[in-house]
Amino acid sequence: MKARDKEEYLSEYEILKKKGKSFFPYAIVKDSVMFVLVAAVLILMSIVMGAEQGPKADPTTTTYVPRPEWYFFFLFELLKVIKPPALVPLATIGIPTICMILLILLPFYDRNPERIPWKRPVASISGILVIVAMGYLTYMGASAGSPNEIELETAPEFEQGKQVVAQAGCLACHNIGENGAEGGLGPDLTEIGAMLPREAIKRSVAIGPGIMPSYRGLGEKKLNEVADYLASLD
Ligand code: HEC
Repeated sequence: MKARDKEEYLSEYEILKKKGKSFFPYAIVKDSVMFVLVAAVLILMSIVMGAEQGPKADPTTTTYVPRPEWYFFFLFELLKVIKPPALVPLATIGIPTICMILLILLPFYDRNPERIPWKRPVASISGILVIVAMGYLTYMGASAGSPNEIELETAPEFEQGKQVVAQAGCLACHNIGENGAEGGLGPDLTEIGAMLPREAIKRSVAIGPGIMPSYRGLGEKKLNEVADYLASLD
């Protein structure tokens, strides 16, 4: 800022300050009235029109796709991009905290008096990069494959069994390829076909060894499809 600009600004500030109104009570009263108005309109609308609450939660569902609200998609995606478990705290707590601290400290490290965007390239470019990154991650998060899906390629004749495994909730405990619970309660099934014969797999799924629930309820046809599919993984 040039010295002349600064002088001009200060004298203008002096004039405005003299004829201006004090924060208390003028601004406080104005804000309070507006607050009461908005709250009253909201209360009235919720009484008259009601609020949609969506379907009741179903604790027995196995096809539910757990998803964050859209404005958390970028964090959700960040978590997916950063795979090694050791780095997960960094992604979920570290990076957002560092960004918050940087924002809080902004007035202390950014002392540039310019306000025109192209006269402050560092701030402008960083801002744009953050927005682009968040937009990209939000898009990726919104279009990400569902956790009820197995991305591992399979032969067409095992497609049916793959669908059943993906949607029956097996991935909550087991890992198959890139999908499911890495380090979950159950063993990794990515190469289960090389370790267990088809019949043993089918028996395991039907009985549910140890803490695994029994899946006999799937019915004979689906149990066979699941066994065919898992036996093909080697
Ligand atoms: C609640 C978690 C859980 C769910 C859900 C689950 N499993 Fe399991 N599964 C386990 C555990 C734990 C074991 C190991 C049990 C043991 O040997 O004591 C296991 C074992 C198995 C085995 C035998 C593996 C081996 O090496 O012996 C197969 C096959 C299997 N599960 C398939 C499935 C399929 C298919 C589904 C979905 C239809 C499924 N599981 C759902 C926890 C689970």
